[in-house]
Amino acid sequence: MKLPSFFAAFACLFLCCISEIVADLNSDEQALLQFSATVPHGRKLNWSAATPVCTWVGINCTKDGSRVLGVHLPGVGLRGPIPANTLGKLDALMVLSLRSNRLSGKLPSDVLSLPSLRYVYLQHNNFSGNITSTLPPNLDVLDLSFNALTGNIPITIQNLTNLTSLNIQNNSLTGVIPSFNLPRLRLLNLSYNDLNGSVPSSLQKFPASSFVGNHICGPPLNQCPTISPSPSPAPIYLPPPTVPENPRGDSHRKLSRHAIIAIAVAGSAALVVFLLLMLVLCRLKKKRDQGGTITSKVKGGRSEKPKEDFGSGVQEAEKNKLVFFEGCSYNFDLEDLLRASAEVLGKGSYGTTYKAILEEGITVVVKRLKEVAVGKREFEQQMEIVGRLGQHQNLVPLRAYYYSKDEKLLVYDYKPAGNFSSLLHGNRESGRPLLDWDSRVKISLGAAKGIAYIHSSGGGKFIHGNIKSSNVLLTENLHGCISDFGLTPLMTFPKVPSRSAGYRAPEVIETRKFTQKSDVYSFGVLLLEMLTGKAAIQSSGREEVVDLPRWVQSVVREEWTAEVFDVELMKYPNIEEELVQMLQVAMTCVARLPDMRPTMEEVTRMIEEIRPSESENRPSSEDNKSKGSDIRTPTP
Ligand SMILES: *[C@@H]1O[C@H](CO)[C@@H](O)[C@H](O)[C@H]1NC(C)=O
Ligand SMILES: *[C@@H]1O[C@H](CO)[C@@H](O)[C@H](O)[C@H]1NC(C)=O
Ligand SMILES: *[C@@H]1O[C@H](CO)[C@@H](O)[C@H](O)[C@H]1NC(C)=O
Ligand SMILES: *[C@@H]1O[C@H](CO)[C@@H](O)[C@H](O)[C@H]1NC(C)=O
Ligand SMILES: *[C@@H]1O[C@H](CO)[C@@H](O)[C@H](O)[C@H]1NC(C)=O
Ligand SMILES: *[C@@H]1O[C@H](CO)[C@@H](O)[C@H](O)[C@H]1NC(C)=O
Ligand SMILES: *[C@@H]1O[C@H](CO)[C@@H](O)[C@H](O)[C@H]1NC(C)=O
Ligand SMILES: *[C@@H]1O[C@H](CO)[C@@H](O)[C@H](O)[C@H]1NC(C)=O
Ligand SMILES: *[C@@H]1O[C@H](CO)[C@@H](O)[C@H](O)[C@H]1NC(C)=O
Repeated sequence: MKLPSFFAAFACLFLCCISEIVADLNSDEQALLQFSATVPHGRKLNWSAATPVCTWVGINCTKDGSRVLGVHLPGVGLRGPIPANTLGKLDALMVLSLRSNRLSGKLPSDVLSLPSLRYVYLQHNNFSGNITSTLPPNLDVLDLSFNALTGNIPITIQNLTNLTSLNIQNNSLTGVIPSFNLPRLRLLNLSYNDLNGSVPSSLQKFPASSFVGNHICGPPLNQCPTISPSPSPAPIYLPPPTVPENPRGDSHRKLSRHAIIAIAVAGSAALVVFLLLMLVLCRLKKKRDQGGTITSKVKGGRSEKPKEDFGSGVQEAEKNKLVFFEGCSYNFDLEDLLRASAEVLGKGSYGTTYKAILEEGITVVVKRLKEVAVGKREFEQQMEIVGRLGQHQNLVPLRAYYYSKDEKLLVYDYKPAGNFSSLLHGNRESGRPLLDWDSRVKISLGAAKGIAYIHSSGGGKFIHGNIKSSNVLLTENLHGCISDFGLTPLMTFPKVPSRSAGYRAPEVIETRKFTQKSDVYSFGVLLLEMLTGKAAIQSSGREEVVDLPRWVQSVVREEWTAEVFDVELMKYPNIEEELVQMLQVAMTCVARLPDMRPTMEEVTRMIEEIRPSESENRPSSEDNKSKGSDIRTPTP
């Protein structure tokens, strides 16, 4: 009797819990659907009741998928006010990012008082009215900058003891800055409002640039411009407590002397602080300048005004926007991209490649094309094709592109493991172990499959046109993926840069026309590269430049020796046969006559036959693998 009832109670509890979870997720879903139904948006959201909420674009759930934790919809063209009882019902929400939209009306007070809320990014909208005073106590980041907010800064900011970043610059806030002292606050920007009075002493540790563009005087800003002895300004440096030892008229003079000393001391202290600050700022600026953003590199010097260039008004940006491909989960806009800190990965024949780290910690690769020879329509059509092709697992997917008259940008996933070239050659001097044979075979096979897929697409007419080892990117577990495909038809014929030259088939150099058979030739060079460990163009002893196929042919013709192979590979036992077979595949690929070369399909099959199964275990392939992935500097 007792036991069953216990179980019944337990089951009920269990079911109740489950149904509660389902109910919570359901209410989250309803809230979001209500939001997308009532707030117009430019970009389509794939939010549908038929699919699980946690797979919707811009929605982030708890690990167990029971609640919605984050809503990230930056730059999707949201318009108008946020209605009450929509997002405000997401009572597990931690992250709200709706920046760079055209949202207006009052700030959604129900959302902004959710106790779970930690990160709020509503900058670059058109919100008006007062800042909500019922902000949740756990708030960590509050960014309301670049809106049209009015009224005072609420005194309740003081309650947000966990706040690390408060950015409300470029609004129309009035009144004096309330005195708040938040121990964790690291970033404060109140610039460009209509605030007056002085900076409370608790905030004077922040730089002047946190307060510029207001009617504020006193430290850390300049002295007040007028000497008007207004009694109202808040006391900045209190005179030391004076004991009224001399209660006669004398005390007046004494007090002022105290005040003078205090002011003098404070003044020189302020000067020292100011000088130190300038020093620190200069340092910081220098550091930042070394990193730089894509904008500053792309726009070369006009970096302060990226928004003018591309239209910070979203309306304008609609015309000139980053075009994302279906199934892409990235959520950023052109502005974010241009603001990202960027680092040059390499300069290739088609343009410069950057690694860009966006504000939200997303890393992408941006390729800036030069010498595009086609118009917008053709470019877009080609991008559609490239986007579709990129679905294959051995191709690096194109995520987005941007086309304007002056600028063509392509956005790809970032592959931290680097490229085949850097793993084959990059670390020879550093003394680190090089790629083992198994990895080389695996990467080559992946690359072959990728190229074969390109060749089989578009009715069998597509060509890569720029196969080389630096265009084979690697995933974490060393799968080879082909990048840079579909660009050749867009470009003027590149003026043979030395890096690609070694891969170019003899007939390409004559006719300037790429074919699938010229891709096979390039792949053959890539195989020779991985077998010999030598670069595609070799400078032999007497300053004479010899290409890899000719060098291998000459060695093989004179006397069959193991000398062609990478000495690194000699460490592995029992692979000679595979080496020789792979060399034969490579040699047929680099046959002088295009018709003598196999198709990529055949090449793939031949490589698979060399290595019928991955079941054999070879020594030292494991520890090399882990070391191989240490290398994180791709150099396309
Ligand atoms: C989703 O949330 C997880 C953990 O809360 C976080 O690591 C991840 O970065 C979030 N994703 C996005 C796109 O914000
Ligand atoms: C912002 O909203 C105000 C009304 O609140 C409107 O007059 C103004 O045109 C809006 N600005 C933009 C850039 O949408
Ligand atoms: C601040 O954050 C910590 C965890 O980071 C949390 O334990 C604490 O409750 C928070 N304090 C407030 C006032 O929310
Ligand atoms: C907005 O704030 C100002 C001062 O901060 C206050 O006088 C006014 O009543 C507030 N308006 C609303 C609608 O709350
Ligand atoms: C928040 O701050 C206000 C004014 O400073 C104060 O009256 C209120 O009690 C505070 N609330 C909490 C929860 O600390
Ligand atoms: C911020 O406001 C200042 C002063 O109104 C203005 O000069 C500046 O251009 C604004 N910044 C942006 C990015 O709108
Ligand atoms: C700030 O400006 C308001 C009017 O906008 C005025 O009433 C107030 O006295 C000013 N405060 C100071 C300290 O100047
Ligand atoms: C605050 O914003 C202004 C205007 O955008 C900027 O010039 C200043 O450097 C910012 N200050 C800080 C501390 O971020
Ligand atoms: C919605 O789009 C995102 C990224 O664009 C994708 O990851 C997700 O699977 C899609 N969800 C549905 C239900 O189609």
